[in-house]
Amino acid sequence: MEKFLIAGGRRLQGQIRISGAKNAVLALAPATLLAPGIHRLGNVPRLRDVMTMIELLEALGCTCRLEGRELLIDTRSISSLRAPQEIVSRMRASFYVLGPLVARYGYAEVSLPGGCAWGPRPVDLHLTGLQQLGATIEVRDGYVIASATRLRGTRIELRVSSVGATGNILMAAALADGETILHNAAMEPEIVQLGEYLRSMGAHIEGLGTPTLRIVGVSELRPASVEVIPDRIEAATFLIAVAATEGEVTLTDACADHLTAVLEALEAAGCSITTTASSITLRMETLPRPHPISTAPYPGFPTDVQAQWTAFMLRAPGTCRITDTIYPDRFQHIPELQRLGARLERQGNSVLVHGGYPLVGTRVVSRDLRASAALIIAGLIAEGWTEVIDIHHIDRGYEAIETKLQALGAAIHRVVQGD
Ligand code: UD1
Repeated sequence: MEKFLIAGGRRLQGQIRISGAKNAVLALAPATLLAPGIHRLGNVPRLRDVMTMIELLEALGCTCRLEGRELLIDTRSISSLRAPQEIVSRMRASFYVLGPLVARYGYAEVSLPGGCAWGPRPVDLHLTGLQQLGATIEVRDGYVIASATRLRGTRIELRVSSVGATGNILMAAALADGETILHNAAMEPEIVQLGEYLRSMGAHIEGLGTPTLRIVGVSELRPASVEVIPDRIEAATFLIAVAATEGEVTLTDACADHLTAVLEALEAAGCSITTTASSITLRMETLPRPHPISTAPYPGFPTDVQAQWTAFMLRAPGTCRITDTIYPDRFQHIPELQRLGARLERQGNSVLVHGGYPLVGTRVVSRDLRASAALIIAGLIAEGWTEVIDIHHIDRGYEAIETKLQALGAAIHRVVQGD
């Protein structure tokens, strides 16, 4: 096990490159199962979740090669239609293989992902969507067993705009017989990229980036090549970290268009921001103003940035409310931030942040991916040394986070736990 040691109080300044989006790769890689052949994904980040997805595809019989930022996936030798519990329990996005396998091979066994660190995360919408497309779904020994001779297009209305369910249904419908209309579909950039990738494979999809998707199934798809979009959550995390230290940063290979809600919130908190087609520059010269946020499906403020924003608001003299409407229990970071001296009051699905009080470094435990990012930000603004232990979560979703922070002047070191 490893931990981070962070000496707080340094102003971050400089330029870093944003990596490819984890959540895009986790949708694109399973989509390759829809077409036999060799697929190419470029700008792939080296992350533990990406390695887990590769492991899963290899367990199904694919051959994968990750060289530099390029991932080649050969789907010609699928030999298993079972996604084992051991892999799915490590990464919920493994559930994305369900739709493609049942659509292309007529059968799939995928372990139920179960809950996660911040409460229940159901998959009912994935399952009813596939059932509406004509799949038979059974749950046996903790596995979803889906079968179908050929899926049939239909009209599906999602109760909530789920990213994962939209992805699974989109992939399945691409090979179904006839037309599928998906209402209340997710509009996240990663879903738009998935849809565009499917189109480059030969799928007929309209309405990407809107809540209504029209998919006309085809009988077969062909392999394709794609450059993964920049990771908007990584970008938001670095912008917030730099703003919290009253610093200045330019993010390259970043997409401002995917970050409208976060950039507006940063500006409201007092940051100056300029953007180009592929870069974002932020400058912060004062303490932030308290600015409340409430998470919402894209284009709203992302739930994946809620914890980091909470850490940022600890710098803002005054009080503001942070609400998570997507995951009402996603507050693993609260007790750990309180250990650093943060004044936070949990109230149902929100937390009141009383900012402007100094944080003092101590040992805190990383409980999940984005909570870990919040603890790092808190460590960067705390007095003295902060130790963040059990940091394996951070490697699931941030590529070399300490190297990038060091490039901005942060004093952060990865050391073996126990040292
Ligand atoms: C994806 C992201 C995750 C992000 C989340 C919300 C990936 C790999 N992960 O997760 O980083 O935090 O979107 O932006 O892209 N729901 C149901 N039934 C379902 C599915 C979802 O009720 O069958 C609910 C969830 O409990 C939640 C909401 O829908 O309240 C949104 O979840 P969803 O968009 O499905 O999240 P994921 O796709 O799992």
